[in-house]
Amino acid sequence: MTTPAQPEAIEALLKEGRRFPPPPAFAAQANAKPGIYEEAADAEAWWTGWARKLEWSKPFTQGLVWNEPFATWFADGELNASVNALDRHVRNGLASRVAYYYEGEPGDRWTVTYGELLDAVCRFANGLRKLGVKKGDRVAIYMPMIVELPIAMLACARIGAAHSVIFGGFAPDAIVDRVNDSECVALITADQGWRRGKKVPLKANCDEAVAKGMPSLKHVIVAKRVGDPVDMVAGRDHWWDDVVKDQPSTCEPERMNAEDLLFLLYTSGTTAKPKGIKHTTGGYLTGVTATHKLVFDLKEEADVYWCAADIGWVTGHSYIVYGPLCNGASSVLYEGTPDFPDKDRLWEIVDRYKVTILYTAPTAIRTFMKWGTAYVDKHDMTSLRLLGSVGEPINPEAWMWYHTHIGGGRCPVVDTWWQTETGAIMITPLPGITTLKPGSATKPFPGIGVDILDEAGNSVPLGGGGYIVLTKPWPAMMRGIYGDDARYKETYWSRFPHKYLAGDGCNRDIDGDYWFMGRIDDVMNISGHRISTAEVESALVDHPDVAEAAVVGKSDDVTGQAIAAFVSLKSHANGTPELADELRDHVSHILGKFVHPKYLTFTQELPKTRSGKIMRRLLRDIAEGRMLGDTTTLADSSVVAELQSRAVEEANKEE
Ligand code: WT7
Repeated sequence: MTTPAQPEAIEALLKEGRRFPPPPAFAAQANAKPGIYEEAADAEAWWTGWARKLEWSKPFTQGLVWNEPFATWFADGELNASVNALDRHVRNGLASRVAYYYEGEPGDRWTVTYGELLDAVCRFANGLRKLGVKKGDRVAIYMPMIVELPIAMLACARIGAAHSVIFGGFAPDAIVDRVNDSECVALITADQGWRRGKKVPLKANCDEAVAKGMPSLKHVIVAKRVGDPVDMVAGRDHWWDDVVKDQPSTCEPERMNAEDLLFLLYTSGTTAKPKGIKHTTGGYLTGVTATHKLVFDLKEEADVYWCAADIGWVTGHSYIVYGPLCNGASSVLYEGTPDFPDKDRLWEIVDRYKVTILYTAPTAIRTFMKWGTAYVDKHDMTSLRLLGSVGEPINPEAWMWYHTHIGGGRCPVVDTWWQTETGAIMITPLPGITTLKPGSATKPFPGIGVDILDEAGNSVPLGGGGYIVLTKPWPAMMRGIYGDDARYKETYWSRFPHKYLAGDGCNRDIDGDYWFMGRIDDVMNISGHRISTAEVESALVDHPDVAEAAVVGKSDDVTGQAIAAFVSLKSHANGTPELADELRDHVSHILGKFVHPKYLTFTQELPKTRSGKIMRRLLRDIAEGRMLGDTTTLADSSVVAELQSRAVEEANKEE
């Protein structure tokens, strides 16, 4: 097994001895009560209890039907996700409760109530129907962090169209791949978005994508965010404001089967082609509602909850949109970045809205550490009562800093492990119950079955590490990969029989607490963004000067991992620093600005086995500056010597 973490690092991690038992005052009021794990011993009954808390237009009688590896949950029931997120609360007298406190990057702010959100969703849903979008269709959404984004998602859900949100940082090629893979009929976007004071050309990117060919696409709907003129193609492009004009603020929701597709979300795998992860309605809503309520100890009347992620990733789907809205929470929704207009952006927002629950990523926390506490100390942070972390392993030092400087030493920190595929949080402390250990995601959520396996598929006893697997189906689990059942089986269910392979390396200590070690496959985690080495390689070889490329993740103090690319050039080209920059930009141009190789090493040849396979493990060792192991299977070992000396050169430049 190859884990990015070095053996010494793992050992140091497991020696972490600090313990944080639940503060008594927190425990006394916590949603999670002692005995909760025992209560969930019958997982199907436990999940069924949570599913019953949703509103069903036709109640279900079935629980789990497991036709491995395909699950259905509550399959004879009917419900609508937008009704569960909105109508239910409005009918219960909560129309004036705030759904979102909106914080735009330019400083525009307003509050949107549940009543207002329902009106807006109905009007847009009616507009979509009028354009001919119908139940069973797929709709792509490529938007900045504005309120129209959750409105668009919920409007799709209302009329039974599955949404496929494409992160606004992606480049046009990524839009083309995703729209075409699932044959979306409409694409919802904005004129431009704001990021660090600059305008992001979302509509222009859509135009570029359309020009590359998206045969299924009939409509492009454009919300006005920035206001500069953009090109509009008559018949195809529609302003959002025109779509909703004269539409009534009520809209009959489609009755959806629990197993009808709610959304697709594309994520990177080990090949260059992203996978369209399928999530259905009843089980997904059950999973996100239960986890959001318990993991974040949500008191919906009192809390101001803030997940500072982007809705373009699963974190935003589950914990900015569906979980919080189904629970009737009041959330902050913000556009922009933590460093603009200044490095206290987050703390200013915490102070302004008296945020009580904050959920962010280790890469952000390590960046805040680097910036120093002065930015935090400028603001009153005493409203916070609970902190969350997601996206990658959190190192004990960052955990301690978060706990001490953001949480004032009083807030439990929940380190939550999960994936796009799992739909909802899988391994996490339950605040008020769990004794916390800095750096550990601690225990499986009630109802979730987990094991650690060795190469041979045997369960590893407590105190050891290996492959983390999920041992029984759960309601929010992916229902497959869009249009590719074979890949679903192969990727997740073939390595070990009857077990879901997550793709992470993990240790379990003698108390049964889980310590994540990073991916075990060719997937990198850069600032919490999942990027496949193959995607970056294929973007590199797309450049006319590149003959071959190999990409590995290299540990990074701030971003978790950074991209290290090894490139061999065609004979006409020279490996100049200018070309290196050009290649970096080329990758960003194809994949999106957030994908930018930090290290790029030119080499005559890539190290290959005699059978011609690129030796990635070796490249990883070189990138990490580790001592090399046995390289006798290498075809030409002078290649390694050359690469090593170059990697050292690069490293010196970094200092
Ligand atoms: C991969 C999933 C889950 C939403 C954000 C990412 C890594 C995620 C943790 C954590 C250690 C974590 C894993 C996982 N990961 N959370 N708390 N501790 N690793 O979703 O893009 O589907 O990525 O992120 O490697 O497999 P994603």
